[in-house]
Amino acid sequence: MMLECRGITAGYNGSPVLEKIDISIGEGEIVTLVGANGAGKSTLVNAISGLLRPMSGEIHFDGKRIDQLSPADRVRMGIAHVPEGRQVFAGMTVAENLSLGAYTQSSRSVSDLRSGRMRELCDQYPFLRERINDVVGNFSGGQQQMLAIARGLMSNPRLIMLDEPSLGLSPLMVQEVLNLVTQLRERGLSVLLSEQNARAALAIADRGYVIENGRVTLSGKASDLLDSPEIAERYLGVGAATRFSQEESKRMAASLRDCIGPATDSPVPGVRMS
Ligand SMILES: Nc1ncnc2c1ncn2[C@@H]1O[C@H](COP(=O)(O)OP(=O)(O)OP(=O)(O)O)[C@@H](O)[C@H]1O
Ligand SMILES: [Mg+2]
Repeated sequence: MMLECRGITAGYNGSPVLEKIDISIGEGEIVTLVGANGAGKSTLVNAISGLLRPMSGEIHFDGKRIDQLSPADRVRMGIAHVPEGRQVFAGMTVAENLSLGAYTQSSRSVSDLRSGRMRELCDQYPFLRERINDVVGNFSGGQQQMLAIARGLMSNPRLIMLDEPSLGLSPLMVQEVLNLVTQLRERGLSVLLSEQNARAALAIADRGYVIENGRVTLSGKASDLLDSPEIAERYLGVGAATRFSQEESKRMAASLRDCIGPATDSPVPGVRMS
């Protein structure tokens, strides 16, 4: 398996939220974490990306133990995290937002790398090229989500973790975002998809884990989970109406900014609207 979490216990201020979680993600797999508001999905994603240090347990990526590494080191190894609430910077352009996604590239030719990767992404996703110099402030939620995913792709990851990408989007936009997620798998990436929207997530995933109160209560092939009566009863009838409180979103934005640092060399050279 590409990623393995073994017995992860993690939480805040000394009290655990997750209790001995075991999950794994294989090469080229979409694995979904489904669970209600507050179940612990984001806590697990944050533990994998390194924003949160687990209290115990081990995380292995490509056979190497990573749970003591910094978030930046984990990005360099190939793990990207697209956080809940998208966290794009409203006052900046698409290009500037994208350039933040390559913050771990520390070579002398950092801006060459960035603009090269940006051009690649613009070729793969024309919507980026069309809007490359636009300030993202009044983008729709769906456009911001696509941009947030593209920013995650800037570091050329092998595993991308998407935390609630469908949150607050119209059904049509949810579909577009999920199409993008399945394209990522076609390009060979592994995806960890954290979602309250269990039906949508299980519909495109290969495997899933159901998290309740910080524990994995069910897991298996996504198609089997979709058919299981427990899931139908608990998750498929209810809409995903809950959102992060403003306070929680602000806290996450602040911790993300801490880990990215301020933007330095922008605007990014070499990328122009076609
Ligand atoms: N920074 C924090 N400090 C203290 N408690 C937190 C913090 N972040 C989350 N929690 C608590 O940890 C528990 C799990 O939260 P988490 O955000 O991981 O759930 P989730 O499954 O991602 O929920 P949602 O679907 O709403 O995003 C909740 O009880 C939450 O209140
Ligand atoms: Mg969450």
